[in-house]
Amino acid sequence: MQESAPLDVERIRGEFPILEREFDGNQLVYLDNAATTQTPEPVIDAIADYYRETNANVHRGIHHLSQEASIAYEEAHDTVAEFVGASGGREEMVFTKNTTEAENLVAYAWGLNELGEGDEVVLTEMEHHASLVTWQQIAKRTGAEVRYIEVTEGGELDMDHARELIGEDTRMVSVVHVSNALGTINPVGELADLAHENDSLIFVDGAQAVPNRPVDVEAIDADFYAFSGHKMAGPTGIGCLYGKKAILEAMEPFLYGGEMIRKVTYEESTWNDLPWKYEAGTPLIAQGIALEQAVEYLEEIGMERIQAHEEWLTEYALDRLSEFDDIEVYGPKEAGNRGGLIGFNLDSVHAHDLASIMNDHAVAIRAGDHCTQPLHDKLGTAASARASFYLYNTREEVDRLVEAVDDARQLFA
Ligand SMILES: Cc1ncc(COP(=O)(O)O)c(C=O)c1O
Repeated sequence: MQESAPLDVERIRGEFPILEREFDGNQLVYLDNAATTQTPEPVIDAIADYYRETNANVHRGIHHLSQEASIAYEEAHDTVAEFVGASGGREEMVFTKNTTEAENLVAYAWGLNELGEGDEVVLTEMEHHASLVTWQQIAKRTGAEVRYIEVTEGGELDMDHARELIGEDTRMVSVVHVSNALGTINPVGELADLAHENDSLIFVDGAQAVPNRPVDVEAIDADFYAFSGHKMAGPTGIGCLYGKKAILEAMEPFLYGGEMIRKVTYEESTWNDLPWKYEAGTPLIAQGIALEQAVEYLEEIGMERIQAHEEWLTEYALDRLSEFDDIEVYGPKEAGNRGGLIGFNLDSVHAHDLASIMNDHAVAIRAGDHCTQPLHDKLGTAASARASFYLYNTREEVDRLVEAVDDARQLFA
């Protein structure tokens, strides 16, 4: 097992002021990164600088501030597009509120118009509610059927079942890239091939992938790919929807109003160019500009190195948790086969009690169903505890996690 961290964590931690916080004399150990990551100084500065120096509405004014804000906001789309390998630049990168809104955008704009009786939408049993509930509801409205690729005992997708399910009636395959409950990294490229061989589209939920590994939407051949700024060192209130240009051009808008139109009469309206056609009203200007800063921050550190750091922490945490035979870890057991998050349960302690005792140690983890209720039903538990890592975490913090778990065990013995 490699001893030293792949990243210069000490330097990185210095850029995240919140990590200095203490609770009852204990320094915060923040291991709830799959829910939301912390924000580095350059991103905090980008938000403050925007409001100090540039704040204006975009695409509406000929004054200096509006022009500067418009250029910065537009360029942010190009930077984020390039970050995930979208060669079409801004035309293929729509800014949304979050991953959930990106899912809804496609489900409403494409699904409501394209799906009908006899059509199938194929999901996986490990989908986040953002995708599961959304397609479930659109299917109800259109008469389409939702089918689920099964998850094996080992927490992987059953690809034989995927090959059985994805067929000539499939119109959309919607899959999570990295599971937020199991950590599983799904073979999204293979699933995209299967979808396309059957003339189906594929939507990939990359909320847990883009923050911590290199992602290339064109290499995957995803038709749509979504992620959230607040899980990748960016601000809350901004998400991203990559879509292939031809598909975004053909689709109807999701929200109507200002900004997304070209020509309006009392009878008819026509739509603006991509991506503004999908960004109705005043868009997420400060958030978009700050997200660009977050992307530049991550790129400077290097996505391969961030991935290596998460694997290094995950390997150590899996090893430490395996010291206890009353802990059940969900998902794949090897660090290289999973993202940097670990869902687990301690036999004698409910996940919520565990999280509460962790909190007494100032160790922040998540407990609950992680927006995957049906998956938890399948796992036979209502809730699990989840520790999730990011580029500023250390092995000493994993030790603090394990100490707190041990304390919980003793309290409930
Ligand atoms: C895999 C996955 N998909 C979607 C989401 C939803 O993200 P947001 O709440 O930013 O819309 C999450 C958030 O936890 C997630 O982990």
